[in-house]
Order: sequence, then structure tokens, then C-alpha cells
Amino acid sequence: MKALVLAGGSGSRLRPITHTSPKQLVPVANKPVLFYGLEAIAEAGVTDVGVIVGDTGREIREAVGDGSRFGLRVTYITQSAPLGLAHALLVAGDYLGDDDVVMYLGDNFVVGGISGIVEEFRAQRPDAQILLTRVDDPTAFGVAELDGSGRVVGLEEKPARPKSDLALVGVYLFTSRMQEAVRAIRPSRRGELEITDAIQWLIDRGCDVRSTTISGYWKDTGNVLDMLEVNRSVLDTLEPGMEGKVDRASEIIGRVRVEAGAEIRRSRIVGPVVIGAGSVVTESYIGPFTSIADNCRIEDSEISFSIVLENSLIDGVRPIEGSLIGRNVAVAPAPRTPAAHRFVLGDHSTVHISS
Ligand code: G1P
Repeated sequence: MKALVLAGGSGSRLRPITHTSPKQLVPVANKPVLFYGLEAIAEAGVTDVGVIVGDTGREIREAVGDGSRFGLRVTYITQSAPLGLAHALLVAGDYLGDDDVVMYLGDNFVVGGISGIVEEFRAQRPDAQILLTRVDDPTAFGVAELDGSGRVVGLEEKPARPKSDLALVGVYLFTSRMQEAVRAIRPSRRGELEITDAIQWLIDRGCDVRSTTISGYWKDTGNVLDMLEVNRSVLDTLEPGMEGKVDRASEIIGRVRVEAGAEIRRSRIVGPVVIGAGSVVTESYIGPFTSIADNCRIEDSEISFSIVLENSLIDGVRPIEGSLIGRNVAVAPAPRTPAAHRFVLGDHSTVHISS
């Protein structure tokens, strides 16, 4: 069995963060979301991984390399345009050959990994196996319809009137029968080769298409609220560790990881919190479910339930809550005009002011 990891796509839902970085590299608890997927694949005993890349291929290659650090052998496959998930399978046809495949969307996060489902598929080898989960708003997903015995009878991509609340999770297992399907289907109204159409093609020909509904937590990390929620759930299982420096006037409470070269001065940190390498926190409060990436400076501020990416500065701002702050950002009081808000905001930014 091989794995196919999809790491293309524009990440429009996560702008402005994804203007400068692929959505699959947005960190959760200071680790790119894509790495959790690669680790889950390695843990499931799959070592050959095709990584589908698009416009952001350079960044993905730089981050993942040859995959050896995950115990994987990575082959990069370029998808010339984002023409759909089934199109990705089509361009990976030569790489996959007759092998079974576990396809994994690089911006998805499956708690508890995929070892169980991969093992089940290997033992039973249906033509296709999909993962489902119940969601509040099925219109944002591929949606499955099951019959009384739990067999998949129909699939629709982002339907206006969903037939169930069972959404397709971004992990799929296929035998090489799927290659026939992706060659046979035609582009949808939005011009993409839809994975749902390809699976429907198999169903219509009487193939064995099974589903497993996972109740465990998972999120498509395509928007900011989901990012904060995934970050929260990963921090909940954080391994604490103290590799940086904490002065005597600081207080560390609960599960906190301070990475190498980070410094905490006259501050209070209430975990779960991770402070990245080289970051300096001075006279501040960092509250639960916060990830501060590498080389940030937090001074005279309060921040909780938030993600701050590399090289950013937060100075004299309190409190900050439920925020995703990008790379090389400065958040600081307006100079000399204390009653005014002053902004330099890029396209697609969002700011919520409390006053
Ligand atoms: C894709 C699939 C959809 C699936 C979702 C899971 O949509 O097309 O069927 O439910 O991933 O993340 P996207 O998130 O790329 O819009």
C-alpha cells in the first residue's frame, strides 16, 4: 500500500495566513498540520508516500524533504492546477500503479491516527473505504447517504440540501479499481474531478464501498475557529518540558512546554501552553490553549486561547483572546495618539476591536 498526501490548494479560507504559507504548513501546537498526517501514515506502517503539490510546492518540499525524518520515502507529484481530488489520483496513476492507496488531505487532522482503519482495509480490501463524521453544517463537505444496513448508497459534494449529517473526512482508502473511476468521470459544474463522483461511479457499478463513522475528534483545519479548536485539542495532550529559561519571578502552572532558547521573565504562564524556541516573554500573562511559535516577543501583554506564528511582536496589549496572529506581525499601542486605533492590515485581514 502507498499513501497519497494532498498538499496543494490555495487555502483561501485561512487568508491572510495562507498568503505567505501553504495551509498544510500552518502550525498546530507549533508543528505543521501536515506533519501530524505524515506521522499517522508512518505509524500505520505505510512508507511510500506520494505528495501532491501545486503552486506552493517549493515550501512543501522545503518542509517535508525526502520524508526520512518521518521514516517515509516521499515522491513529489505536481498537479498543474487544483482540478479536484479525483484529478490528484489521476495524475498519481503512474506512481500508484496497481497498489492500494490511502489518500490523506494534508489540511485534515484525525485524532488518534489512521492505523486502525488502515489495518481493517488491509484485512478486508473492499474497493473503497471512506471515513465519515457527523457535522453541524454538512453543506461545507462531501455528504454520504447510507442505507438501513450502513452501506453507502449515495455521495454528494457540498450539497445545498444534504441528505444526512455524515460528512466525508479527508482520509480515503482505495484499491486500484479507483483508477478506472477517476478516468471515467467528467468534471463537475465547478470544473473539478470530484472524489465523490468517482466513489459514486464505483457504487453505481456494484463495487464494495464501505464506510466507518468516527466519533473521535477531527477537523478540517480550513478556517480560523477550527484552527484554534485543533490547537486546543492538541495542547490538551501536550508533553510538558522545560528547555528554555524561566526566571524566579515567573510562575508556570499546568502543562507548559518552553522550547530551547526561549525565556520567560517576570511572567505567569497557565498551561496548556507551548512557547517556541528563541521566544521571549516579559511581564506578561499567557493563558490556556496558546501556542507561541519561534522567535516571538511578548511584552507587557495578556494572551490566551490563541496562536502566534514566528517572529511576531506583541507589546502592551491586553487581553488578547481567540486570535490567530501570523508571521512577522507587530501588535502594539498606537504611538502618541492613545485614543486612536492605528492599522496596517493586509488584504483579507480581520480585526475585532473591543471598544
Ligand atoms: C474536500 C472534499 C470533501 C470533504 C472535505 C474534508 O473538500 O471535497 O468531500 O468532505 O475535503 O476536508 P475541501 O475541504 O477541499 O473543500
